[in-house]
Amino acid sequence: MFCCYLLCNMFALLLLYLLHAGFGTPITSQRSFGIDYAHDCFLKDGKPFRYISGSIHYSRIPRSYWKDRLLKMKMAGLDAIQTYVPWNFHEFEPGVYNFSDDRDLEYFLQLAEEIGLLVILRAGPYICAEWDMGGLPAWLLKKESIVLRSSDSDYLAAVGRWMGVLLPKMKSHLYQNGGPIIMVQVENEYGSYFACDFNYLRYLQNLFRQHLGDEVVLFTTDGASKLFLRCGTLQGLYSTVDFGPGSNVTAAFLTQRHSEPKGPLVNSEFYTGWLDHWGDHHSVIPSSRVAKTLSEILAWGANVNMYMFIGGTNFGYWNGANMPFMAQPTSYDYDAPLSEAGDLTEKYFAIREVIGMYKEIPQGPIPPTTPKYAYGEVSLERVGTVRELLNDLSPSGPIKSIYPLTFVQLKQYFGYVLYRTKLPRNCSEKTPLSSTFDGIHDRAYVSVNGIPQGVLERSKLLTLNITGNAGTYLDILVENMGRVNYGRYNNDFKGLISNVTLAGEILMDWEIYPLDIDRAVGQGLKNEMSGGNIPNYEEPAFYVGHFPIPSGIPDLPQDTFIRVPGWTKGQVWINGFNLGRYWPARGPQLTLFVPSNILVSSSPNNITVMELESSPCGTQKCLLEFIDKPILNATLYYESSTEKLFTRDEWLDHI
Ligand SMILES: *[C@@H]1O[C@H](CO)[C@@H](O)[C@H](O)[C@H]1NC(C)=O
Ligand SMILES: *[C@@H]1O[C@H](CO)[C@@H](O)[C@H](O)[C@H]1NC(C)=O
Ligand SMILES: *[C@@H]1O[C@H](CO)[C@@H](O)[C@H](O)[C@H]1NC(C)=O
Ligand SMILES: *[C@@H]1O[C@H](CO)[C@@H](O)[C@H](O)[C@H]1NC(C)=O
Ligand SMILES: *[C@@H]1O[C@H](CO)[C@@H](O)[C@H](O)[C@H]1NC(C)=O
Ligand SMILES: *[C@@H]1O[C@H](CO)[C@@H](O)[C@H](O)[C@H]1NC(C)=O
Ligand SMILES: *[C@@H]1O[C@H](CO)[C@@H](O)[C@H](O)[C@H]1NC(C)=O
Repeated sequence: MFCCYLLCNMFALLLLYLLHAGFGTPITSQRSFGIDYAHDCFLKDGKPFRYISGSIHYSRIPRSYWKDRLLKMKMAGLDAIQTYVPWNFHEFEPGVYNFSDDRDLEYFLQLAEEIGLLVILRAGPYICAEWDMGGLPAWLLKKESIVLRSSDSDYLAAVGRWMGVLLPKMKSHLYQNGGPIIMVQVENEYGSYFACDFNYLRYLQNLFRQHLGDEVVLFTTDGASKLFLRCGTLQGLYSTVDFGPGSNVTAAFLTQRHSEPKGPLVNSEFYTGWLDHWGDHHSVIPSSRVAKTLSEILAWGANVNMYMFIGGTNFGYWNGANMPFMAQPTSYDYDAPLSEAGDLTEKYFAIREVIGMYKEIPQGPIPPTTPKYAYGEVSLERVGTVRELLNDLSPSGPIKSIYPLTFVQLKQYFGYVLYRTKLPRNCSEKTPLSSTFDGIHDRAYVSVNGIPQGVLERSKLLTLNITGNAGTYLDILVENMGRVNYGRYNNDFKGLISNVTLAGEILMDWEIYPLDIDRAVGQGLKNEMSGGNIPNYEEPAFYVGHFPIPSGIPDLPQDTFIRVPGWTKGQVWINGFNLGRYWPARGPQLTLFVPSNILVSSSPNNITVMELESSPCGTQKCLLEFIDKPILNATLYYESSTEKLFTRDEWLDHI
């Protein structure tokens, strides 16, 4: 019956189409979304439409929580959500795609549709977003001279292949095809990039039209300044602007009018909070400021997307960095109206109240903040150093090379690589080990024959004195702390990207160990060399512990936060899931969010820590602690000399 009904309808539509085609007028489908230039607004199903939207990145939230977060967004009164599609999250190696589990974009779109939220899809190849390399896959750098986000032929070929996979999947989710997607972004803040390549924008425009058809609204977004709009916009792509609380709303929209004399006013990124860097203050933007400017925007009748509505987490290695090099922490809480863990905040209710002044808010209960549980202290034991576990971490063994190779040359894009050579001379006196041309990307943990010598750090600490005998191993463990996501320094090669000298002489004959740490941790680390050595707690090493979920307490497991008292810098996994980096020695983030979906009650949970610098295990208690509240605002060490927190607009003005 149902199918027949559908079929009959399809025949009717086909007939209609043929009839119309005969007279040369296009068919107007039941569902439509477009721009009404005459009345300066969007048209949805032929009626004037204004959206209030919020950003949520599915790549920063576990799949099991997508629905909860989307429902909370719906209950705040939002019409739409905006999400980026991070290319590097889906295409690990050229032609190898992953759209399953936490990467199941189509399921995310389906949930939004079911909950009654429209989607503004930022599908363009570059996303910025404080995400590794702004979403561009690091393998693009196999061509060392590649000019990203330009008409560089290799770049375009890669973009064309990727969009040829992504966009056909998106087509059935377009609004006019029955799905939630009303608009698609082709490039992101391109006007702030140096290339200003209109052929590239035209290429993207054609590519998107070819895959998605002529009807969908394609758009661009730029900082609200004529300077940015000049290179960021193109005829045929609707240009929108970005600005935050405290901005002059009139002036900002007049700037958009410069590009789009007619059509809807749109702020695509209205900042509810701001990003963080290790070694700087935690950004906080008062709700009252956000509410005030939001209200002004809505009073204009303008469309707005709040960036972020929920920030989420940079799990694993996904955080990006800014220049001068400062990496972003694991938490992407963003001081957003829903916290990193999805909690309802005072800002959520302030925003909801403002929205309620302009439209009807859905009635009914708001999904409550999920309960958190303090599982308490868990003691850890040292499994072994990176050196001792090398066979397990690097089963393929070392790659030999006269001079150092980069991560990309090794085809390892994330995490850590061990560079090893033998000291060619006796260094009984302190001897300077130096990186030429600022080549430590980004942080290196140096030891000689297992004796820690110190840390080298990109742009900051490029020389270190070492001691050791000729013929002993010099080990340099290099950490990729996240690729630059913004500006002209996107081509961010990792590893030892230039030569290392000892007393001025270039070191040669390296054995370079790619480290497949995530696999090894997932399988349970095996130390084949343990015993004998007196443990040294200053060397990069792994520690493991186990904790059960208490029985007899209802509704466990629940979300929790890990605190790392006395630990310095490293990475944490639970049951093989990479929770991200910790660095309490810098801050501002002191706890890591642990979503309950990675915990099990049927058996003990395994926790693995890779401490890079110094663990408390030799002198203090060798433990971690699970607590029920996050601590994101404790900066213990200021990396930047200015201690200045840039606002978004100031940031854009400075670059
Ligand atoms: C795809 O990604 C999911 C996580 O989102 C992961 O569990 C799965 O192993 C990945 N698949 C492949 C083939 O790498
Ligand atoms: C805001 O900008 C408008 C247009 O440029 C200008 O007329 C107005 O004086 C500005 N308001 C403030 C408070 O600066
Ligand atoms: C290094 O010193 C040791 C003993 O101090 C000596 O036997 C050896 O020959 C020296 N090697 C070099 C390369 O100078
Ligand atoms: C290395 O040691 C020399 C001699 O003790 C000293 O002058 C120099 O400052 C040291 N360099 C560093 C980077 O510590
Ligand atoms: C290291 O130095 C050698 C010899 O000067 C040079 O050929 C090579 O390109 C350098 N390698 C890197 C990675 O800078
Ligand atoms: C914890 O690790 C052990 C040993 O590797 C393994 O047998 C067990 O399945 C792991 N537990 C979980 C919950 O992953
Ligand atoms: C950190 O945040 C907490 C919770 O919002 C607050 O109570 C505390 O005063 C803040 N601390 C600092 C140093 O800002």
